Amino acid sequence: MSEDLSFSIPYTNLYFASLAPPVLRFIPLLHRFQAGPAAGSDRFTYAEFGCGQGLSLLVMAAANPNATFYGIDFSPGHIARARRMADEAGLGNVVLLERAFEDMQPDDLPPLDFAVMHGVYSWIGPETRAALVGVLDRHVKPGGIVHVSYNTLTTWTNLLPIQKLLSEYAAQASGTPEERANKALDFLETLLASNAGHFREAKALAGWLKHTRSGDIRYVLHEYFVRHWEPTPHSTVAAHMEGAKLSFVGTCDVIDSIDRYVMAPEVAKIVAEIPAGPIRETASDLVRNNSFRRDVYVRGPVPMTAAEHQAQMAGTRFALVRRRDQCKLTLKFPVGQVELNAQAFDPLLDHLVQGPATVADLARTVGEKLDAGMIRRIVTLHAAGYIFPCPTADADPAPSERFNRVLGREIAAGHGHAVLASPVLGGGVRLPAPRIAALAGAAPPPAAGTPERAGFEGDREAMARLGVATRAA
Ligand SMILES: C[S@@+](CC[C@H](N)C(=O)[O-])C[C@H]1O[C@@H](n2cnc3c(N)ncnc32)[C@H](O)[C@@H]1O
Repeated sequence: MSEDLSFSIPYTNLYFASLAPPVLRFIPLLHRFQAGPAAGSDRFTYAEFGCGQGLSLLVMAAANPNATFYGIDFSPGHIARARRMADEAGLGNVVLLERAFEDMQPDDLPPLDFAVMHGVYSWIGPETRAALVGVLDRHVKPGGIVHVSYNTLTTWTNLLPIQKLLSEYAAQASGTPEERANKALDFLETLLASNAGHFREAKALAGWLKHTRSGDIRYVLHEYFVRHWEPTPHSTVAAHMEGAKLSFVGTCDVIDSIDRYVMAPEVAKIVAEIPAGPIRETASDLVRNNSFRRDVYVRGPVPMTAAEHQAQMAGTRFALVRRRDQCKLTLKFPVGQVELNAQAFDPLLDHLVQGPATVADLARTVGEKLDAGMIRRIVTLHAAGYIFPCPTADADPAPSERFNRVLGREIAAGHGHAVLASPVLGGGVRLPAPRIAALAGAAPPPAAGTPERAGFEGDREAMARLGVATRAA
């Protein structure tokens, strides 16, 4: 039997923007459902199941100091690491529980406004999934928002027998978990080189193996050398979520809401004829070759009237998270390369350089109505990763500053963190570690008059806009 080689090896510690509360609140709103805490409320409860070493959770705790964050993971090393960072930053609003989902007790958690699991659901077995759904059923509040990401069955089917073989080979090999995983991958290379049987047709497999071997072994161990590796179609996950009275409302990949950027018109026509629901979602993954989903569910989504939708959209604030010069209008969306119309998009980006703005402000700026076309433009810029929904008011910046100092010290010590907490965003802003080090004054700024210096100044401006203190002169 295969074993879980990943258990003793810490996972990668990355920030995932789609887990931020304002991003999660936006998905039901986009699809015209009331959900989550009341607009403007910053005193919510949030739990991450399988939080790993907790970087995402801690960034959000720092950026939402009035909310309470719970991180649950059965790995003591993961919880200890998260606890140390939280303590160093003096974050008093984080509770970290070393617990298996199967062992959770009713008084471990309060009623939850948000529950998220990223990189967890298709890597656990049926009993653990059932336990997790039970915990969601017990704790998610009516109207609570749940994020679940997972590998769909699409594109992974060829890999199903390979993953089993790799796991079983590694289980009987000797050495550290990394050595055993590498022996299994060597064995697969030999089989692939035989060019026989299954491997004769396996061009994509060769690409996958090369990519996998060039990646972080900690990621590879947690991704493939786990006891359960169960890519699952949307319709199955949606059926499981019904066990916690959760209804699917949309995905964090907001571009999914704009057909023309997702699939060819003739394909969109076929998909549109399938009634909205799990079968349409699964078929849509198949026609798009979509291998990974970031679904948002709500416990009791209440449809909005047109007036409610208009009013809530109008009051939603967005912030520019990139340097303006990096917001190119040639984008790669699932349908292929897309060229956005500069006349329609540049004025919105130019306005957001001055600071966060509501959707109503943005519509006013360009002298247009807040209609479906305006919402599509905003969604497009969000899908591009240029703008993010943010809370209606900025949070106290002190916890973010303390947490960012801890990140700076860790980066100086060799950790590759690529995020800073932003009290404006209610989440994190991603930036490569060397640029964070330069902003923290840990490295001298680039020479005046060089493109690097212009980039550095651009980063400073962007951080100031997001309420992130920087120390470089
Ligand atoms: C692939 S990692 C994802 C970590 C983090 N969410 C991320 O995306 O970076 C899966 C995490 O779930 C935790 N986990 C797996 N099964 C669990 C269980 N039954 N109970 C509690 N935690 C579990 C693992 O320890 C690991 O930290």
